[in-house]
Amino acid sequence: MKDVRLNNGVRMPAIGFGVFQIPENETERVVTGAIETGYRLIDTAAAYFNEEQVGDAIRRSGVKREEFFITTKLWVQDYEYDDALRAFDLSMKKLGLDYLDLYLMHKPYGNYYAAWRAMERLYMEGRIRAIGVTSFSNERLQDLFLHNEIKPAVNQLETHPFFQQQAANTFLQQEGIQHEAWAPFAEGQNDIFNHPVLKEIAARHGKGVGAVILRWLNQRNIVVIPKTVRRERMAENFHILDFTLSDAEMAAIATLETGRSPIYDDMDLPTVKGIGLHKIHE
Ligand SMILES: NC(=O)c1ccc[n+]([C@@H]2O[C@H](COP(=O)([O-])OP(=O)(O)OC[C@H]3O[C@@H](n4cnc5c(N)ncnc54)[C@H](OP(=O)(O)O)[C@@H]3O)[C@@H](O)[C@H]2O)c1
Repeated sequence: MKDVRLNNGVRMPAIGFGVFQIPENETERVVTGAIETGYRLIDTAAAYFNEEQVGDAIRRSGVKREEFFITTKLWVQDYEYDDALRAFDLSMKKLGLDYLDLYLMHKPYGNYYAAWRAMERLYMEGRIRAIGVTSFSNERLQDLFLHNEIKPAVNQLETHPFFQQQAANTFLQQEGIQHEAWAPFAEGQNDIFNHPVLKEIAARHGKGVGAVILRWLNQRNIVVIPKTVRRERMAENFHILDFTLSDAEMAAIATLETGRSPIYDDMDLPTVKGIGLHKIHE
C-alpha cells in the first residue's frame, strides 16, 4: 500500500516521517535527508517546537508543494475556539505554508469540541485538506463525530507489535477513518529491535526489524510515520514495499500483543493531568 484515500477523497502517503524529539537545531538537516530519501509525508506538531525548521527543509528542497503531505497538530492549551484559530495561523506562519494537508488535535483532553469546530471552519474555508484526531478512544471518537458536522479523516494512535490496537482498527475501518500509527517502534521500548520473533522474520527477508514492523503495519492498512535521525535508517524505513509478509508471519507478530502501552496510558489519571495541563506557550 503506497498511499491511502481518506474519507473526503484526499490521498495520503502510507509511509511518512515523524519529527518528535528531533532537536530544533537538527531538524532541518534531518528532514532534508528524509525528503532526499523520498518521504513526502512529514508529521510535526506545535508541541514539538520544530515546525519552523520543517518549513525551512520543505522550502529549500526544491520539491513542489503539492507533492508534500504536511501534518501538524494543535496543542490542548489552544483548544478554545478562538485560540485554535490563532494557533493554526501561528503554525502556518512557522511552517511557511499557505495551506495544510492534515491538522490533528494532539490529545483527547480539554475542550476538544470547541477545537474541532474551529478546525471544521478552517477545513470548510479550504485552509486544510483534511482534519483528524490523535489518541482518541473509540468512545470519544464516536461521540465527537456524532455531535459535529465533519467526521475525522484520521485517528493517529500509538500502534506497534506490543500494542496493536485491533479494536480501534476494526472500529476505524468500519467508520471509514484512517488509522495512522504513532511510535510504530514503541520508541524502542522492550528492546523491540532485538525481539527474536521479529529478528527471525527480518533475517528470512534480508530486511531489518524496523522494515518488518512497518511492513506489518502497512499490510494492516495502517499509515506509518517512523522517526529516525540516521540516513541509513531513513532508507530502511522507507523501502518496505519490495517484500511481503506471509499470513503465518503476520500471525506470528500478532502474538506479540501485550494489551498495554509500554510508553504511557492516555487514560491514566496522572497522564490526563500532566499532559492536559502542559503548556507550550505563555
Ligand atoms: N500523536 C502523538 O501524541 C504522538 C506521540 C508520539 C509520536 N508521534 C509521532 O509518531 C512519530 C514516530 O514515533 P516516535 O518518534 O515517538 O517513535 P518511533 O518511531 O517508534 O521510534 C523512534 C526510535 O527508533 C529508532 N529507530 C528508528 N528507525 C530505526 C531502525 N530502522 N532501526 C533501529 N532503530 C530505529 C530511533 O532512533 P534514531 O533516531 O537514533 O535512529 C528512535 O530511537 C513521531 O516522530 C511523531 O511524529 C505522535
